[in-house]
Amino acid sequence: MTVYLNGAYLPKEEAHISPDDRGFLLADGVYEVTRCYDGHLFAWDRHLTRLERSLKELQIQQPDVDFEAVSHALLKQNNMDTGDATIYLQITRGVAPRTHAFPKISVTPTVYALARTFDMNPADWTNGVKTITAPDMRWLRCDIKSVSLLPNVLAQQRAHEAGVEEAILIRDGVITEGSHTSFCGIKDGVLYTHPDSNLILPGITRAIVLELCDQLNIPVKLFPILESKLHTLDEMMILGTGSEVMPVIQIDNHQVGNGKPGPITMKLQKAYKDLITKTIAQ
Ligand SMILES: Cc1ncc(COP(=O)(O)O)c(C=O)c1O
Repeated sequence: MTVYLNGAYLPKEEAHISPDDRGFLLADGVYEVTRCYDGHLFAWDRHLTRLERSLKELQIQQPDVDFEAVSHALLKQNNMDTGDATIYLQITRGVAPRTHAFPKISVTPTVYALARTFDMNPADWTNGVKTITAPDMRWLRCDIKSVSLLPNVLAQQRAHEAGVEEAILIRDGVITEGSHTSFCGIKDGVLYTHPDSNLILPGITRAIVLELCDQLNIPVKLFPILESKLHTLDEMMILGTGSEVMPVIQIDNHQVGNGKPGPITMKLQKAYKDLITKTIAQ
């Protein structure tokens, strides 16, 4: 497999990072994951904008790299320009002797990119997935797509051990989002999701789904869902670059609705898949 590291395309085994890299020592870096359908980078501009924002918020220098060209080159060199794949991009503040404060001298950010084939059980989209709730133990800048993911790792491990797809996070009695997905609930035909704030990642799939709601006349309320009201929701879904629009049929031991994917969720899932098809055809 060929990867990209600091300007070079090289076999993954030869891609070495310094032990002084601040990403390794301090999780001082950001990342993005973009889905690629038959070589098309889906919602690329939105991913790039979010990446640039994450860098800016952390005062990491914007690398002078054409990430779109790198992504296409990786897809091509790894024979992934047909089929389903993802591009992982990571940028860290760079290499410097370990200090908490930023390095005194200006350092060049470390840039790493990798293409991976993506596969998911297609039955999940039709049958829906099970989830659990877990405490949201993350920091107060969840809007930055930082590589510092330990609370997400621990929550997802809980889900894995429970044999379910995702952990839905709860902070101060409200649902924020999933460990690696956004969360929406439907009640009486209205879609509810946590408003954009420092407590959630501004999910790109979520942003697209909110636009689809507008087109489909599905009313949206950007209100946090109370943990105490969770079991009254008619439908639930998780959203993400990998998950797309994924119906949730169970949360902890509670069955959602009639235990089958809900009609509004499926309508949005179809609209999202249609949008992908349209994008690929362009
Ligand atoms: C915490 C969190 N929320 C939401 C998402 C979904 O974001 P997107 O739709 O941009 O993939 C992710 C994706 O990694 C995530 O890690």
